[in-house]
Amino acid sequence: MAALHSTTTTTLFRSPLFPNKSQTPVQRKPKQCLAGRVRCKATKGDNDNLDQGPARLDRRNMLIGLGAGGLYGAAGNPFAFAAPVSAPDLTTCGPADKPDGSTIDCCPPTTTTIIDFKLPDSGPLRTRPAAQNVAKDPAYLAKYKKAIQLMRELPDDDPRSHAQQAMVHCSYCDGGYPQVGYTDLEIQVHYCWLFFPFHRWYLYFYEKIMGELIGDPTFALPFWNWDAPAGMYIPEIFTDTSSSLYDQYRNAAHQPPKLLDLNYSGTDDDVDDATRITENLTTMYQQMVSKAASHRLFYGEPYSAGDDPSPGAGNIESIPHNNIHFWTGDPTQTNGEDMGAFYSAGRDPLFYSHHSNVDRMWSIYKDKLGGTDIEKTDWLDTEFLFYDEKKNLVRVKVRDSLDTTKLGYVYDENVSIPWLESKPTARKSTNKRKAAVSSSDLTTTFPATLSDTISVEVTRPSATKRTAAQKKAQDEVLVIKGIEFAGNETVKFDVYVNDDADSLAGKDKSEFAGSFVHVPHKHKKNIKTNLRLSITSLLEELGAETDSSLVVTLVPKVGKGPITIGGFSIELINTT
Ligand code: C2O
Repeated sequence: MAALHSTTTTTLFRSPLFPNKSQTPVQRKPKQCLAGRVRCKATKGDNDNLDQGPARLDRRNMLIGLGAGGLYGAAGNPFAFAAPVSAPDLTTCGPADKPDGSTIDCCPPTTTTIIDFKLPDSGPLRTRPAAQNVAKDPAYLAKYKKAIQLMRELPDDDPRSHAQQAMVHCSYCDGGYPQVGYTDLEIQVHYCWLFFPFHRWYLYFYEKIMGELIGDPTFALPFWNWDAPAGMYIPEIFTDTSSSLYDQYRNAAHQPPKLLDLNYSGTDDDVDDATRITENLTTMYQQMVSKAASHRLFYGEPYSAGDDPSPGAGNIESIPHNNIHFWTGDPTQTNGEDMGAFYSAGRDPLFYSHHSNVDRMWSIYKDKLGGTDIEKTDWLDTEFLFYDEKKNLVRVKVRDSLDTTKLGYVYDENVSIPWLESKPTARKSTNKRKAAVSSSDLTTTFPATLSDTISVEVTRPSATKRTAAQKKAQDEVLVIKGIEFAGNETVKFDVYVNDDADSLAGKDKSEFAGSFVHVPHKHKKNIKTNLRLSITSLLEELGAETDSSLVVTLVPKVGKGPITIGGFSIELINTT
């Protein structure tokens, strides 16, 4: 793959689009920080520098850890109960940061009356349709266009206007709100376990506002069905330049019929459509199934009151959600507007359909894949504020977002989910186990510089085949530690397990374990982070479950400056 070349890629999101520290353990904030007495380290755009540290555990987690796998992970203060992040105080809202270093005022109107959300009485369900299907439904399409047009026509200070709706995202995502009680820390709903619930609530109110404006409470947002071949394009309904659904700041090279690349990281590499579709479907399977055994990897890392923002994104947030933002935004704009930057993403109506499908992935995870809710109160009781369809300011909690039917909507089930069958297979038909690497070709001294492909042998915690119950309780994870590089550089490397370094597998093969991708942003110093990749399924597919070690190969793809790798480990992490 060619180097990422566009200078605009250097400034897309205020936070890096692909920090891929989605699996970075959270370190508890130092006590003086929690007490708010000492100024904590700057957090704006500077949150990658998380050292490898013990995962914070609450009492419940520790007990499970003891029950399922001995003393693993019982580090830190096991009796600390974390408090949930509170709803922001709108009167403390300040300017939000744009990636280019300038600021923008995204603050909503304030009011002193806040209503606590109550689940609606059950009524008819709203069914969210696939965007590619509504092109053939003129009645639906007319309502949708009318709703967006009416939102666009509301005065800018009406909290239901399209402009204000876009600013909701800007304030919650670009440092507009300090955390209540920890004013040195911003509220950030990305790169952590708030990603799914925050966006579910955001869409809920957006959809209710649309229904109110057109007088149809059954109106439902369409979803951009990017996880199936029929939807792997910008949906046609958004491309009519005379429609209210159109946004001018999108990548001109990615108009339909250009096929979406769910692993997009800045360049359109030369892959035929059939291969791209196979890779996209395999990516969906990997993110939703093979690598989603643990809450931490699926939802994202815990983020509680007083924590530094952005502890780490979950699988879907990382890939493909971020990639699709990046793929859609206009690379000729300074910050990749609109979809390529958080502060502006909500200006594009396509954003809400993109997130409708992200939200659908959460529903599929729970309804079809046996996924469960996080039971920790610091997640369940996290609060947000939104203006509703009557312009009331409403306080919501994560716990009320868990069941979409209680919120009055479902997803059209007559849409196929082809990736459910896209399990990767091992490339090698024989010798599925360790690659034949002579010991002289293995890198053994760390930290090591990643200037060329390196292979290392990494010992597993145990060479005994784990039972299904053990796998359900703990996920085996490859950790690449202390990945260090200059923050203003683009970095991408691919990770393979038990493959031959001189003839590597495609992205649809089991040997391809994942990638590290960092898109740079304004950052003066080095970034040091970790990458965690789930390998429980990969070990099964490679027939390597009884091997005592694995050969891991890192292939640098992009990165001008030196990339240092601190070391490797294979660990078991609790799944809940
Ligand atoms: Cu709040 Cu798709 O980002």
